[in-house]
Amino acid sequence: MKPIDRLFCKSVREMSPYSPIEPPDQIARRLNLPEEQVIKLDANENPFGTAPEVLEALRNGRYYHIYPDPAQVHLRQAIAGYADCSPDMVVAGTGADELIDIACRLLLETGEKVISFAPTFSYYGHVVALNKGRFCSYPRESDFSISLEKARQIDLTGVKLVILCSPNNPTGNLLEEAVLDYFLDQDVVVLVDEAYYEFSQSSFLDKVKNRDNLLILRTFSKCFALAGLRVGYGIMSATLASGFMRIKPPFSVNVAAEIALETCLSNLPHFQKQVADIQQIRDWTQKELSGFQQLRVWPSQSNFILCQVLDIPAVTIYEKLQQKGILVRYFATDLLQSFIRISVGTQSQMAVFLDHLRQLIH
Ligand SMILES: Cc1ncc(COP(=O)(O)O)c(C=O)c1O
Repeated sequence: MKPIDRLFCKSVREMSPYSPIEPPDQIARRLNLPEEQVIKLDANENPFGTAPEVLEALRNGRYYHIYPDPAQVHLRQAIAGYADCSPDMVVAGTGADELIDIACRLLLETGEKVISFAPTFSYYGHVVALNKGRFCSYPRESDFSISLEKARQIDLTGVKLVILCSPNNPTGNLLEEAVLDYFLDQDVVVLVDEAYYEFSQSSFLDKVKNRDNLLILRTFSKCFALAGLRVGYGIMSATLASGFMRIKPPFSVNVAAEIALETCLSNLPHFQKQVADIQQIRDWTQKELSGFQQLRVWPSQSNFILCQVLDIPAVTIYEKLQQKGILVRYFATDLLQSFIRISVGTQSQMAVFLDHLRQLIH
């Protein structure tokens, strides 16, 4: 019998699979560790867990048996209130991930190029390939900035989409405004992924009012601790938003996620306090890490820290930490193979992480 995967699209057969992180309970089982011992610092989630107000609101939900509103009327209003824009400029999706996919589906014809700058969030390249586009990734400078001079030299003939990320995952630095302005002046849609906006408090949202080719993406997975419920949103011109609304799956944001999102937005001080705590723990951890001679620590405007490991293979540190139940992110790519990325956890989680790292390195 011929294997059935010969019927898969050529683009799918040829693409390498996306390598997401392994769930902590499965890692615990594989390593024979109690699940409570696992410290999850690998996906930039909110380490304080779901807000009690959200759990309570979910318990009181009455309409889980009814489909969600495909027009997202309440959802778009709530997000527009938070982002200070008009609801017709908002589209919500099953995480920012879905909105990246919708942007590609809306814009790309087979073989069309998408521009981005490496290292960055690896899902972009995956989704572009899935949508039969060509992902063209240009290298960042040694400090991970994007050179305006080099950006100007990129041939944009036939390019419809440029993907930028601010703060950039995994490097933690902000996008240079001059680079964004340069691309906005071209005949392309510019997607700026601000998944970590709440930690940097730096945004290009103001530009959406005057630029109908700017698409800002954000998520409730990080600061708002809803990664498991999957909800993100885009802010863009009403014209671009109407294109998104035309093609998005009708019921992609579920009723529970909608309740959770609206509850988060009614409890902003709870999250503002957590962001302040995370920033303080991040700065403390960064200082501690800077004391290690074998590490080069990169400044971060986000809730994760990128470290280059000198003299020892980064993958060894990653594996040895994992054996102790401490999960950090390692990327087996040419550009990042000597790095690990550590999400900022609670103060006590970071203290345990640093203790183990000290034992491993010294
Ligand atoms: C830069 C960036 N964009 C988007 C996402 C995906 O967000 P969501 O959980 O909303 O799909 C992530 C998740 O790690 C991310 O780091």
